[in-house]
Amino acid sequence: MSVSGKKILIAVSGGIAAYKIHFLIRDFVKKGAEVQVIMTPDAENFVTKLSLSTLSRKPVYSDFYSDNGTWNSHVEMALWADVMIVAPCTANTLSKMVHGMCDNLVIATYMSAKCPVFIAPAMDLDMYAHPSTKNNLELAESFGHSIIPAESGELASGLIGQGRMAEPATIFNAVEHYFNSDIQSRSLEGKTVLITAGPTYEAIDPVRFIGNHSSGKMGFSLAEEASKRGAKVILISGPSVQTLNNPDVELHKVTSAKEMLAKVFEFYDTIDIGIASAAVADYAPKEVAQEKIKKNDENLTIELVKNPDILKTMGERKTHQFLVGFALETQNEEENAKGKLEKKNLDMIVLNSLRDEGAGFKNDTNKIKIFTKTEKKEFNLKSKDDVAKDILNFVETQLLK
Ligand code: PMT
Repeated sequence: MSVSGKKILIAVSGGIAAYKIHFLIRDFVKKGAEVQVIMTPDAENFVTKLSLSTLSRKPVYSDFYSDNGTWNSHVEMALWADVMIVAPCTANTLSKMVHGMCDNLVIATYMSAKCPVFIAPAMDLDMYAHPSTKNNLELAESFGHSIIPAESGELASGLIGQGRMAEPATIFNAVEHYFNSDIQSRSLEGKTVLITAGPTYEAIDPVRFIGNHSSGKMGFSLAEEASKRGAKVILISGPSVQTLNNPDVELHKVTSAKEMLAKVFEFYDTIDIGIASAAVADYAPKEVAQEKIKKNDENLTIELVKNPDILKTMGERKTHQFLVGFALETQNEEENAKGKLEKKNLDMIVLNSLRDEGAGFKNDTNKIKIFTKTEKKEFNLKSKDDVAKDILNFVETQLLK
């Protein structure tokens, strides 16, 4: 399926990125979609109705009434659309959308729409980073809307940072992907996803080990969600009490970091996406005592040697795989996460900080920030199942680029 025959409602608000909408309209029309454009009164300062209607082959509306006295029915346009795209979506329009401040045709149409809504924000970097914008984007997401994140680069102000509207091709791909993925339920069909989960245990003697508090919940939630989306899922888990009720997920249990490394590389060449949520022990005892160590002495020294860094090795051997790492931090969180993204040759990293209540180990909840080389996105505290959805949504958006 493609966008051919689909009814696309594009709402343009007043930002400089409005000039790029011409390319978006052209792409949809070329692929056989029907496009209806509406705009806020402010958008008319940036682009003309004439140029937009020439490309869309339909009249463009910015008010409830036309000069000849006809009513431009927001209800009809809203119910006509298979999808609505708000692009560029300014901070002002975004705020009106999520708070129901219905003072123009775009907002009235949006509030009458029953179709999926895609939002491509565009604003200056400080406005984009402002907590009110972040909250508004979170709210929009909680309404079920798809956010196409702003990109980094030079902004109209001359400043450099995140805030540029996503390129028309990225917006087009997101919408096409929606139609192709059959209500988004099988959006990872045909992809193989490998996930590492849980702790690793590094034996000291037959009864003791070095381990950590990872329960495996985060990784198991990711595996369930990727499987729901139609992916072939290989889950490689360290010792964990988590259970899987999904026969489609291929579960491999391992104990130590070395075993996890070996298992990952049995499959590595065949996977499309690798997600490393395991809390792998960084060090292991140099020697494993064959018998239980007796408590004869006051002090016991165990010499530790560095374990292999599984994810770093995946990054070094990357050919086509999209790699997602996790960073579990207690200080200098963002700096450390970005350092790991770079050092391990990752495409994306998920930061969780033990300083955030309800985040990290064991809890059923997590609070994450996602970084790519050019983007940053922050999420509220959510259940690990919902966090898994956010992570996979973000991965899918990246794969479309
Ligand atoms: O299992 P839960 O109780 O649900 O908790 C989830 C979690 C907190 C364990 C998870 O969200 C998480 O943060 N996992 C990564 C923990 C970690 O080891 O982070 P790190 O910053 O030390 O490692 C960075 C990345 O390198 C991670 O993707 C890790 O899997 C990987 N790594 C680290 C060391 C190593 N030797 N090999 C690795 O592959």
